Order: sequence, then structure tokens, then C-alpha cells
Amino acid sequence: MCGITGYIGYRDAYPIVINGLKRLEYRGYDSAGLMLFNNNQIALTKTKGKVLDLEGIVDQSPSGKEGKIGIGHTRWATHGVPNDVNSHPHFSQSGELVIVHNGIIENYDTLKKELTSRGYTFKSDTDTEVLINLIEEVKKQEGCKLGKAVQLALTQVIGAYAIAVFDKSKPNEIIVAKLGSPIAIGIGEGLKEFFVASDASPFIEYTKDAIYLEDEELAIIKLGKAVGVRKIYDDSIVDANIQELQLSLEQIEKGGYDHFMLKEIYEQPKAITDTYRGRMLADEGIIKMAGIDDNLGKFMRADRIIVVACGTSWHAALVGEYLFEDLSRIPVEVEYASEFRYRNPIITTNDVVIAISQSGETADTLAAIKLAKSKGAFVFGICNVVGSSIARETHAGAYTHAGPEIGVASTKAFTTQITILSLIALKLAQSKGTLSNSAFHMYLQKMQLIPKKVEKLLRIDDTVKHIASVYKEASNCLYLGRGFNFPVALEGALKLKEISYIHAEGYPAAEMKHGPIALIDENMPVFVIATNKGHYEKVVSNIQEIKSRNGKIIAIVTEGDTTVKEIADHVIEIPETEEALTPLLTTIPLQLLSYHIAVMLEKNVDQPRNLAKSVTVE
Ligand code: F6R
Repeated sequence: MCGITGYIGYRDAYPIVINGLKRLEYRGYDSAGLMLFNNNQIALTKTKGKVLDLEGIVDQSPSGKEGKIGIGHTRWATHGVPNDVNSHPHFSQSGELVIVHNGIIENYDTLKKELTSRGYTFKSDTDTEVLINLIEEVKKQEGCKLGKAVQLALTQVIGAYAIAVFDKSKPNEIIVAKLGSPIAIGIGEGLKEFFVASDASPFIEYTKDAIYLEDEELAIIKLGKAVGVRKIYDDSIVDANIQELQLSLEQIEKGGYDHFMLKEIYEQPKAITDTYRGRMLADEGIIKMAGIDDNLGKFMRADRIIVVACGTSWHAALVGEYLFEDLSRIPVEVEYASEFRYRNPIITTNDVVIAISQSGETADTLAAIKLAKSKGAFVFGICNVVGSSIARETHAGAYTHAGPEIGVASTKAFTTQITILSLIALKLAQSKGTLSNSAFHMYLQKMQLIPKKVEKLLRIDDTVKHIASVYKEASNCLYLGRGFNFPVALEGALKLKEISYIHAEGYPAAEMKHGPIALIDENMPVFVIATNKGHYEKVVSNIQEIKSRNGKIIAIVTEGDTTVKEIADHVIEIPETEEALTPLLTTIPLQLLSYHIAVMLEKNVDQPRNLAKSVTVE
């Protein structure tokens, strides 16, 4: 959480820093701030609120826009409520050093007490102000340069960080460091300019060359010099790998849509195609995935697969459980990464662990991976963000290739994760012989048709909009599904609550009578996934139970359905496909529904309150 950006070079830093913050705002948006250095002076502007609020303030004093060096921050509060004082950047006590920070300094209280006893006072409640004063104190004590002071200070820190630090007395350099939170350095032509950011999006129009720092690394960025990277703890010099960025500007813009979320919902036909492109050759009956092919023996010998993830990715993992068990006959356990990491789980070298994460930066998932590795398990990652921490930490993996997902509510990440999981399950089914050859071919053909079917579904947007208008005032909603579509019910409920703030529960349809049925009355909309093959008759009975208690039914059915149509208040039809692939379709109307309800309620769809896109803190 939190976005960091920075610039040093020959251009005006302000537009680069402020636009960079706008692109990083998905990481946190409860306050924002920036520092510019000009004429030997530091101009600091920060405020509670969004980057637009910050821009408004800077517009009032145009001199605050001048300077060829700057650092900025958009915040998701951890220590200290969102207010102007707690916003970043933070000064050291002398006013000489400035810092922006993404992460948590867990031992900040102890450090603060020590610094207080040495005469430091603190303006904010943040852990970050403690860190910058610690750096200042180390610099004073050791009489060293800024880079060394940052390095030594960080050896005293417990926690996670990505930081950028500026020293007024050294205005041609920025120091950055990383542990647990991401940071990228963009390298301008001829080393005449450098960019710093939590991801590469703030600088893609300026350079394609970037270094992604690894954990426990510190970099000294100095104009005219190659970036010097070293290890924080053992002081060894790192031969930093300069990567060529694949990201393009169009990918991170809204492209005519009102919101990123809507754009990303509509991108799903392409995203799903991009996910299986080159991996699934339907006509030849081949699935080839390097990460699986190279490690097939491990999957074939696995006693079980453990899938770890959080949030929407966890819901995709649950779909994966149904897929692996049904198609490949491998026992699966799906774990919340945050529980798994602290539960002393029993993991053996015969286990395969799959970690799923859109961002590839989720702190709990990363910690779960490290734990599984320490117990000898083989860990396979499914990530969207190329080069992300999880992609680097896992033994092997597969990218979803969904393109950047910027809307905080995950949409195309979910369907592309399910696509990858389907490919893996089918590949393993073929290798283990748990699926007949003809069934395998049939699945591949059906998978190939999914993007067109999603396209067709997106055309029913007006029907969904109408349903949204009927139920937008509901204060509670229930989402029910069975089998492959139980996780879709969970995901539908999560989408509604996170962007419209309406309370929603997802439940396995048959569990309803064990409790939630008590909630049903004429004010309760119940969204039921009732596709024709997934325990259809049983779901129809569940629908009857709701109707007889006056609940309102909005059913997602297969095209041509007649039974549910007669009972339900509203129906949304999805094209026919194999039951195992239906989550790729049933989820689409639920995403659209949440989107439209949130828009109708005038909520901030792309930046829902209290949330952030990358959860890089525990
Ligand atoms: C919900 C949502 C979150 C994420 C979760 C995991 O719409 O976006 O629940 O799914 O924070 O994030 P990743 O997949 O990046 O690990």
C-alpha cells in the first residue's frame, strides 16, 4: 500500500511526480504529498485527500511547482490517521532530510523512545518520521554520507519498507531501499535523468529501462552515474539487472471508459484470450506451459496441492479446488495466506503449493510462500504483474497476462486466474489420464469459445443496469451458488460490498437453511447462480425456499432455461458451456451489477474507501 514516486534530472519534476502519483493512486488514496527542491530550498506540500486535492493546493502557489528533483507519496494510512501532518513526505528534525515510505516499521515505538531520549521531537504519529530521524541520527553519529546512513539505519529496523530519501546538502542524488514493498528505478538516456516509483507506470513514457530492487537492497541514484546497488546487511555490491519494460501507456489509461473497473470488465474477452494464447492449442489438443512442463513430475507426484491467496485471488483458488479435484483428481486445500502463515501448517516435500496474486506483492501471500519454501514444498506462482515479488519468490509460475489492473475491485484478474487454473487442471488431467482424450479435446474447444461468450454477455449490460436500479437501495444482499459457482457467489458478494458498501454475503446455496434463511424477507435480494448442469434441481429447490419466504430472486441461468424463469423476479442468461468453465461466465453479470449499483449510488468505483490495490502490509 502507498505509492512512491520520484524524479531527478533535467526536466521539471512536478508534472512527472504529480502524474506519477495519479497512476499510483490505486495503491492508497487517503492523503498525498510531494517535495520539490529548487534554489537550495525544499518546497513541501501535503494534504489529507486525493492527489487531485494536492494538485489543487500546489496550483495556488505555482512556485511550489519548480525544481528538477522531487519525491511524492500517496498514502494508505497504517500509523496515524489520515491528516495533513501524517501525510508524507516527512522531514527529519533538522529539515535537511526528506523521506517517502511505503510499508511498516514494526519497532518504531522502541526507536522513537530512543530518539526522544536523544532530544528528537515528532510532529506526526507516523513510523516514517521515526525512520527519517533515525537516519539523521546515524548520519550525525557516524559522520557518514547519506547512503551509508540509510543503510546503517535500516539494519536497526524491523518491518517492511520501500523508501526514497533526499538530502538537501546532496541535491544530485536520491537513495532508495526495499524490503517487502516494491520499488522500481527508471533509467533515463545517458544517465541524465532517473525515476523512482512503486511500479513502472509513472515513467513508461520516459524510459523502458528499469531496475526492480530486490529485498534488502539499497540503491544510490546519482546524476551521470550508473545506479549503485548494494545489499543492506552484508554491504556486498549487487550487479543490478536492467530490464526492458513491456508496459505501454495505453494499457494504463482509461481508454474512453468512465472507470478503470468498467474498462477492465470489458477487457475480459481479450484478457482471457491473452492468458491462454500460445499455451492452449485447441485444434492440436495441446496445452504447453513452461512452468508446468518443466516441473510436471512434481505435480504428478504431489500428495496434494495447497493453494494460498487472499481476497478475490482466494476465490479463484476455490474455483481451482473444484477444477483440480474434478478434472485431475488431486486433493486440494485452499488457504487464506494470512491464516496459513501463522498456523504452523503441516507441509511436506511432497506438497505442491500454488500461490495466486494479481499484484504479486500481497504481504500475506508472500509470507505464506516463504513459509512453504522453508518446509521444502515446491511453490508455483500465478501472478499478473510481471517481475513482482511473488513472481520472483516462487520456484516456477505462470503469468496471467491480463494487462495492468488498476481498478481496486479485481475483475479481469479473477477470470484470468481461473483460466490459468483451468489450463493447469486440464494439463494434469491429461498427464494423469483422469480425463479421456475426447473429453480433454472437448474442454479445449469449449475454452476457446469462452472469450466470445464473455463478449456476448457484456452486451446484456442494459439488463444488468435495470436490475441494479431496482436493488440499489438494498441494505443487505445474499449471493448463492453451488459447486464451481459457490466461489463465484463469494466473489459476487465481495464485489458488491467493496465498491457500493452494501452488506452482502456469499453462501453455498444448500447451507442457507442452516442459518442465513432467517434473514430472508421481502427486502432481501438474493442472487442465485442456477446454471443448468450444476446441481440444477437442488438449486431450484433452494430458490423455492427463498420465494416461499418472499425473498427477491435474481437468477443467473443458462440460455433457454424455463423453470427458474417462472419463479425468479429477474433472470440473466449466460451462454451454455461445460459446468467447470461456467465461473468464467457467471461472474461477468455480477461484476457489472456491482459496478452499476456503485455508480448509481455515486460511490468512487475505482477507489473505494479504506481499500488499496496492493496490500503490501499484514
Ligand atoms: C478484491 C480485491 C482484493 C484482492 C486481494 C489480493 O476486489 O482486489 O480482495 O484480490 O487483496 O490481492 P492480490 O491478488 O494482488 O494478491
